This record gives sequence, structure tokens and C-alpha cells, in this order.
Amino acid sequence: MAQADTRPVEAEDVERIRERRRRASERGRWRAVEEAFEAGLRNHWYALAPSAALGDTNPLPLRRMGEDLALWRDAAGALHLFVDSCAHRGARLSLGAVVGDRLCCCYHGWAYDGTGQCVSIPSEGGACELAREARVRSYPVEEHGGLIFGWFDDDGQAPGRDCPNPEELESPEWSGFIVPHEWHGVGWFRVLENLVDPIHAPFLHAGTYTMGHGALQDVIAVEDRPGGLFVKREGQELVSFDYSTYHFPNWCEVDVPYPWSAGPGGAMRVLVFVTPIDGEATQVYMVRKRRITGWKWWIWWSLWHLRLRRKMYDVLDGDEAALTSQRGRHALDNEFLAQSDLGIVRMRRLFADAHARLAR
Ligand code: FES
Ligand SMILES: [Fe+2]
Repeated sequence: MAQADTRPVEAEDVERIRERRRRASERGRWRAVEEAFEAGLRNHWYALAPSAALGDTNPLPLRRMGEDLALWRDAAGALHLFVDSCAHRGARLSLGAVVGDRLCCCYHGWAYDGTGQCVSIPSEGGACELAREARVRSYPVEEHGGLIFGWFDDDGQAPGRDCPNPEELESPEWSGFIVPHEWHGVGWFRVLENLVDPIHAPFLHAGTYTMGHGALQDVIAVEDRPGGLFVKREGQELVSFDYSTYHFPNWCEVDVPYPWSAGPGGAMRVLVFVTPIDGEATQVYMVRKRRITGWKWWIWWSLWHLRLRRKMYDVLDGDEAALTSQRGRHALDNEFLAQSDLGIVRMRRLFADAHARLAR
């Protein structure tokens, strides 16, 4: 039989136990927030798809925010976003066809206008009384710089915030690429945390084009910014991924240094839009831009397709491997945060505040 430990309890033991309890209760509080918002925080804009992914007559099926959706463009060019379930018998509207300003269900031909109102039931004679009583849920949509955004309300109210539209998206002075990434087994919180954690770059991305450069040891500082945070390394700037401007709740601006061999234009600005597919998968759109036009853009375009694109995937493959390996909320089970995680702590506080406001 094991001997009982009869040593006196020292003050530092008590302190250690208290600290362990404090960390455990913080983890518990955060876990509740993360569970509440695992498929997204409503009443915000989220990037849905690149414009180029949407055809003229066929709706685009999407899964975003834990919902199946049908995105379509009518004959006049206006965009519409419906819940992907016909009001009649629940068939997917994304299997239907766009006819003029209507979306027609493939199963029995019920037709909907851009607001989601049913306007025709062919088997009942078309625009009948019954049609006026049927509608599908629709969400507001905006399009900026080749990226389509949806507003996910929880109460049917009009958008209460402006859609993200940073200058780099639409200004003709900026050129670049929209790169989609679909990460399965990775919830959106792990992706967001990765974006406000610059110190991971010289470790995870060691040996990549520029992201592995710089010191391994540093201090992380966080400043409040309107609608978000600025997270930076104290010791270096534009050596690697050294700072991130976070816009609550779902997008970041990051600068990645480019050497002369990447062509003219200096550092690359990356706008990263993060959208939950559901609680266990995340859609990310990385809009990669430089303030260049004309022949300079042509040189970057060529270098991008020749070799820079591959180098980007060297970095993203590393991120995907590390984030998938965290196994969702398993990452929280024994989490032990350090000073370098200050960006994560401050970002979580914004979500915790939103959670507390909703609970009131
Ligand atoms: S399920 Fe759509 S028309 Fe019948
Ligand atoms: Fe990374």
C-alpha cells in the first residue's frame, strides 16, 4: 500500500494548485464560448465564394455557417443566397435552374423570385394563391473585388454592419489572386488563432521561402484597433509573418515579405477571410495583393504561376498539418498558454464579450 504524503503543504504548492484551477476554469469558460459559436457568430458578413465560381444559369451549392445554401445570379446580374431547401418538399434548390429573375426547383418546378418568395407553382396553374404563402429563407449578399459575401442574420433583420471592403479588394492600384482553401477537421477558431499567432512562423514554416526567417524568441504585443486588434512581434517587422491586423470576428490583414526574386512590388498584402463550413471544417479565402499594375503585375503573375504559388503551398501545407493535428477542441483539453499567445488570449476575449452580450 502506498505511503500517504505527510510533508507539510508549502505556500508555493497552494499557489500552484490555485494556478492550475484558474487555468482549468478559464479553459472551461472558453470552451463554452467556442461551442456556442462553433458554426459562426451570426449578424456578421462572411466570405462565401469567389465570383468566378458562380455560373450564369446554375446555382452554386455551398455549405457555410452549418447551413446548406444555394447562391445564384439572376439574368440582370443580381446575386441571391437561399437556404438550399425548397419550400415544397425540401429538394435542394441548388439542383434547380435560373430562368430570368427566378430560381426554379428541379423537382416540381416551383419558382422563386430573388427575395425567396414563391411566385409560381406550375402544377397548380402558376401564380396561384398557394404560391403567395410559400417562401424560402434568403440572406443579403454583396460582391467586392471578385469575392461574394453573405450576411447571416439570426432574426431576418437587414444588415447592421458594413460588409468588409478593404481598399486592396477593389482598387485598380492593387493586383493579385484570390486563393481558396478548404480545411476539413479544422474549426474556424483554430484558423483564427493561427492568424494572430505570428511566432509560429519561424518554427512551423522553417525552410520555406520567407516565413521561416527571423528570431525564434520574441515578445508579442497587442494593440486595440477599431473593430479588432493589431498583433505584432516586438523584435522584428517584415522579416517573416510578424504582424496581423485582426478584424472581429472573421478576417485578418497580414503582410508577407517578398525578396527581389519575387518581382517588383515589395511585400505581399494578404487579406484572409475565414468562414465556418460547419463546426468541423473551415473555408478560407486568401486574397493576395501587391500595389502594382501593368508590366509589374505581369511579371508577378508569371513568377506566381512559375514558382511562387508552389512556395505558398509549402507554407499552407504546414499550417494545415499543424491545425488538423490539434484535433478540434481536443487542443483545449490541456492547453497551456504562454506570453507568445497574447494575440489568441485577446481575440478570445472579444468572442467572450460577444457571448456575454448575447446571454444578457
Ligand atoms: S420539392 Fe421543390 S418543387 Fe417540389
Ligand atoms: Fe502559418
